[in-house]
Amino acid sequence: MADKTATLTFSDGTPEVTFPIHQSSIGPDVVDIRTLYGKSGKFTFDPGFMSTASCASTITYIDGDKGELLYRGYPIDDLARNCNYLDVCYLLLYGDLPTPAERQRFDSLILHHTMAHEQIHFFMRGFRRDAHPMAVLTGLVGAMSAFYPDSMNVHDPKVRETSAIRLIAKLPTLVAMAYKYSIGEPYMYPDNTLSYAGNVLRMLFATPCEQFVVNPVLERALDRILILHADHEQNASTSTVRLCASSGTNPIAAIAAGIACLWGPAHGGANEACLNMLTQLQAQGGVEKIGEFISQVKDKTSSIRLMGFGHRVYKNYDPRAKLMRETCHEVLGNLGLQNDPLFKLAMKLEQIALEDDYFISRKLYPNVDYYSGIVQKAIGIPPQLFTAIFALARTIGWIAQLNEMITDPEYKIGRPRQSYVGEKLRHVKPYAGN
Ligand code: CMC
Repeated sequence: MADKTATLTFSDGTPEVTFPIHQSSIGPDVVDIRTLYGKSGKFTFDPGFMSTASCASTITYIDGDKGELLYRGYPIDDLARNCNYLDVCYLLLYGDLPTPAERQRFDSLILHHTMAHEQIHFFMRGFRRDAHPMAVLTGLVGAMSAFYPDSMNVHDPKVRETSAIRLIAKLPTLVAMAYKYSIGEPYMYPDNTLSYAGNVLRMLFATPCEQFVVNPVLERALDRILILHADHEQNASTSTVRLCASSGTNPIAAIAAGIACLWGPAHGGANEACLNMLTQLQAQGGVEKIGEFISQVKDKTSSIRLMGFGHRVYKNYDPRAKLMRETCHEVLGNLGLQNDPLFKLAMKLEQIALEDDYFISRKLYPNVDYYSGIVQKAIGIPPQLFTAIFALARTIGWIAQLNEMITDPEYKIGRPRQSYVGEKLRHVKPYAGN
């Protein structure tokens, strides 16, 4: 029997059931209720996973009350200031930061897998030019699973590693292709002499007609965006990837499922929705109209939300939002856009919301998406592409979580249960005349 237990008693005569409590290294302990149904014939009911841990994980830890985020034990602030995105990929994938030799090997491995299969170009042509990049990316990554049937054996660590390398390396190429296709420009092949973030910038913004020089401030800013979005424990898209991959499907196809989930405005789509919100507010009168806008947000009949605010886990300032705000200052400063009206509007709106009892009482603070749209827009990334950049960054988190699940000795296909509240057994009455 475990050191700590929890006992559940019932008022309907069902005998009480005792469960072990497992200790977490930090954060809430968990009551292991796996035997509940067998012992009592009852399920737990927790739609939205408000109190349910779906797995044990060693990858990412969030303390929502403190506003703390750790990847493999390292604070996000530390990683954002001292590492680059590929270091963080290595950390998430293998559990530790790379040594200089490991770093060199890993970087070189990624850089030598950046090209997408030429056949993908033909696949792209099936899309409408005005298709949303997230629709295109979901399709492209799904299609990629057809290019690598050898990735199917997820129980082979070598196969999983190769899929991981391919995905980390090729996502920027696919995201850039989706963008170039939408604006009718030729695709730019990756340049393996550049950094990961530098390569993304070049593939997005260079043309074959001109020399392209990577701006180091924008390169660093994009790298930071990637680090901040790399993982976030069991959020909706990560849980989607885990659930999808739990059937033993092709891991690349499971990542496509994660991308589809990320697209929604309550999740990764919030950065695009936030920038659209700010742009709309600016067009309606900007700072002068903040009061009116906040009243609409607070009006429960309006369904308008302050995008980029609030989080299921953070009940304090999202630590990623702080870093993103800092990056926003750096990027706008570098580009001479310190007086950017959207940035000023965002800061004023944030200040007013943080002083408003509606947001204070519900512990609603800016999340990572509040400032990331402004930074990305300043870099030159169009709002429609924001969530695709998020997907590219999050791919490593999805892979690390998928690998962790597959290698967990307690791994099982995910299969939630339900409380059925529909019709009881009934029978079809034959139609008259039949
Ligand atoms: N604006 C106005 N009210 C809000 C907001 C908001 N952004 N977020 C939550 N609330 C209110 C909500 O109406 C509810 O009020 P009441 O108790 O009076 O009914 C209360 O706060 C709790 O909200 P909830 O929807 O029950 O909380 P949740 O944990 O289910 O939702 C959330 C979390 C992120 C979906 C939500 O805060 C939201 O919709 N935020 C805006 C979208 C956004 O910025 N999403 C990005 C999340 S961070 C990036 C990522 O992880 O993908």
